[in-house]
Amino acid sequence: MKSADDPRGPLPWPDYIVHTIRELKERGLYRQLKILDSAPGAAVKVGRRSVLLFCSNDYLGLAADPRMKTAAVRAVRAWGTGVGASRLISGNIALYRTLEQAVSKLKRVEAALVFASGYATNVGVITSLAGPGDLILSDALNHASIVDACRLSKAEIAVYPHRDVHALEVLLRGRSTRGRVMIVTDGVFSMDGDLAPLPELTALSRESGALLVVDDAHGTGVIGPNGGGVFDYFGLKDPSALQVGTFSKALGSLGGFAAASAQMVDFLVNHARSLIYSTGLPPSVLAANAEAIRIIIEEPNRRKHLHRLSSHLRDALGPLGFSLAEGPTPIIPLVVGDAEEAVRLSAYLWDEGIFVPPIRPPTVPEGQSRLRVSLSALHRQEDVDRLVYAIKDYFRQGS
Ligand SMILES: Cc1ncc(COP(=O)(O)O)c(C=O)c1O
Repeated sequence: MKSADDPRGPLPWPDYIVHTIRELKERGLYRQLKILDSAPGAAVKVGRRSVLLFCSNDYLGLAADPRMKTAAVRAVRAWGTGVGASRLISGNIALYRTLEQAVSKLKRVEAALVFASGYATNVGVITSLAGPGDLILSDALNHASIVDACRLSKAEIAVYPHRDVHALEVLLRGRSTRGRVMIVTDGVFSMDGDLAPLPELTALSRESGALLVVDDAHGTGVIGPNGGGVFDYFGLKDPSALQVGTFSKALGSLGGFAAASAQMVDFLVNHARSLIYSTGLPPSVLAANAEAIRIIIEEPNRRKHLHRLSSHLRDALGPLGFSLAEGPTPIIPLVVGDAEEAVRLSAYLWDEGIFVPPIRPPTVPEGQSRLRVSLSALHRQEDVDRLVYAIKDYFRQGS
């Protein structure tokens, strides 16, 4: 393809678009939006078909819970459909205070700050805390929103091998920068479902003075005896760490948050550009999020059922040769390697009435294409068994 350095000049825009799409198709990396015709649940309608849904992050089945809907509708009646301004102007309605108090309680920290999304939270937090001259140590499998935020910060970035505390320690000790240091990690890794080695990371950050930022988008509500996420799971309390989370996964709605000390939250209010220059969330969303936290705290049985299903699925798939680390999360990656093989397996399951799209580069590293199976507390064991039979059939038939 003619590039910008080509003496003939770059391809004209229309040709460039057509060429790029053709190339994606040839490499098995082309993606398309699928339209769903029903609310999220254990099964969804796509056109006239009903398919079992094994790819949603609505882990606790709250996105269509009647109590969440009622909370949202009541908030619309009382507060309208939008807050009309950014939070620092006039958008900071009282529902924010209720929600941030609920987040602080769930995360057992002094204070919390709600952003428009998990993505916006990572961008706001990381770019306001780290800058040129600082060093960010980032796990190799961190979520794209962390990667983008790190790049935007203009700090020096050192990527350490996935969950490798020893390599992290070596980087930390050998650093040449004189600036401040941040260690940033997913709490539960989004595509692999494994956990950050939090006990070691908290010890290392305490000892070195590095700020630990843990994005617990997939742990919040799902793991830990109280659904508090990865800190709750390990029984750790680290008042100097900063926890990021999102309401868009187990909490069934939208928005993100930072949970930390009151001083840190004060700092973020004054520096996080994605908070300062963006309109506040609608009242319906704020109210639904607070309701989700109430349900998470009061209904541990949802979590217990989800964990039983996850263990059942891991046990059933282990003999097929997938390397599935034991763990408490409902994210179970079936790594097949080749992108086209992932597309074939996904298409087979689709024909069997099961919806699990293929996850391919750049979302996962080259050669690690997969089906990322995720479970919901709304699934029954029979649903999981249907998935297992279909996967077994696929491999029995020699793909
Ligand atoms: C680890 C992680 N962080 C952040 C996000 C972004 O959250 P949100 O969808 O609320 O923007 C996601 C998911 O999309 C994620 O998996």
